Amino acid sequence: MSLDYLKLNDANSVRVPAENLHKQVSVILQGVGTPQAHAEITAEILLSSSLRGVETHGVGNVVRYSESIEDGTYVVPQTVEVISETETTVLLSCGNGLGFVAAHQGMEMSIAKAKKFGVGMSTIRDGHHIGMVGYYPMMAVAEDMIGMAMTNASRSVRPALGARPRVGTNPIAFGAPAGDERDFIFDMATSTIASGKIALAKRLGVQMPVGWAVTAEGEPLTEPRGDRGEDWAMNPLGGTREQGSHKGYGLGLMVDILCGVLSGGGFGMQLAGGENMTWTMAIDIAKFRDVDDFKAMMDDMIRDLHSTPTLPGEDRVLVAGDPEADFEDDRLANGVPVENSQYDEIRARAMALGVEVFI
Ligand SMILES: NC(=O)c1ccc[n+]([C@@H]2O[C@H](COP(=O)([O-])OP(=O)(O)OC[C@H]3O[C@@H](n4cnc5c(N)ncnc54)[C@H](O)[C@@H]3O)[C@@H](O)[C@H]2O)c1
Repeated sequence: MSLDYLKLNDANSVRVPAENLHKQVSVILQGVGTPQAHAEITAEILLSSSLRGVETHGVGNVVRYSESIEDGTYVVPQTVEVISETETTVLLSCGNGLGFVAAHQGMEMSIAKAKKFGVGMSTIRDGHHIGMVGYYPMMAVAEDMIGMAMTNASRSVRPALGARPRVGTNPIAFGAPAGDERDFIFDMATSTIASGKIALAKRLGVQMPVGWAVTAEGEPLTEPRGDRGEDWAMNPLGGTREQGSHKGYGLGLMVDILCGVLSGGGFGMQLAGGENMTWTMAIDIAKFRDVDDFKAMMDDMIRDLHSTPTLPGEDRVLVAGDPEADFEDDRLANGVPVENSQYDEIRARAMALGVEVFI
C-alpha cells in the first residue's frame, strides 16, 4: 500500500531552504557544547534525510539530541577512539557521543582502506543514533565504491513466531554507483517499517495499517503507540510465518552480530533506547574491473527494470533510491518541509539556547 499519507505536505509542514536548516541544526548542537566540526557532520546527515523524504530521521530530531547532550546521555566533546586496527579493519569506540560522528568516521576509514587494499570495514561500539543509515553507503558511492552500513537498536521487534519484542529495527543500507541513471541506494529497516513511522503516524493522527505491529496476544495493532513495552511488538519484515517473517528476523540478527556482537557494544536486548552500534564496509570497484564498465552495466540493469510493465493501477517500476532522489530534486528546488510541531520546537529550542534563529 502507498504510505503517501505519512509524507509531509503544505498543511502539516513549513518549507524551509536547505541551507537555513543546515545552519539551524548546527548552531543548536554547538549551543549545547558540540564542537563545530561534529555539529556540521550531524547537520549534514540530518539534512540529507529531510531532503530525501526520510521524514522520521531528519532535522526534527535535533531537539532530542540536544536534550540528550544537555542531560549527559550523550558525551560531548566526544573522542572517537581506535580500539584495534588492521589494513582492512577497524574497531572504533564512539565515546558515547553523537553516533553520526563515529559512523561518518567509520565509513571514511572504510573508504580509505578500500582505496589501498580493495575492501575496508569498521565496526563501532559505545554509540548513539546514526539516523538514516543510507547516508553512509552514499559516501562510498561518491568515491566510485560500493558501500554498505548497518546499525542495531534496542528491542522493539518480535522474533518470528515470538510474542514479545526482542530485536531492534536493525536497518541495512547498500549503495552502488550508476552512470547516467541514478545510483542504487537501498536503505531498509529489517522490521516491516522503521519505528519512527509509528511515531510519525501518532503525531499526524493517522492509524497504522494491519501488519506493522501486534499485541502480546498476536492481534493486529493499528493505534500507533508512543511507548515501548512487553504488551506489543513491531513485526519483522515478512510479518507472518506464511509471508516469511523468519527472513526479516534472520536479517535483523545478522545486523545485531556485525554491529553489536563483533564490536562488543551489545545486541538489541542489551541496548538502551537510542543506542546504535554500527558496521560499515566499502568495496573499491576499480580493484575488480573498470569503473565505467561497471556503471554502464548498472545503467543497463536499472533501465531494464524501469521498463518492466506495471501491475494494474501502478505508474512505474522503481529501483531503490528513486523515491528519495525524487524528493531531493523537489526539496532542493522548493525548500524542505519541516513538520509544523517540529518547526515550532526547533525555533523554541534555538531561542532558549540563545543561538541564532535561521528558520
Ligand atoms: N538508526 C536507526 O536506529 C534506524 C532504525 C531503523 C530504520 N532507520 C532508517 O529509517 C529509514 C526508513 O526505513 P524503512 O525501512 O521504513 O524504509 P522504506 O520502506 O521507506 O524504504 C526502503 C527502501 O526501499 C526503496 N523503495 C521504496 N519503494 C520502492 C519501490 N517501489 N521499488 C524499489 N525500491 C523501493 C527505498 O528507496 C529504500 O531504499 C531508513 O533510512 C533507515 O536507515 C534507522
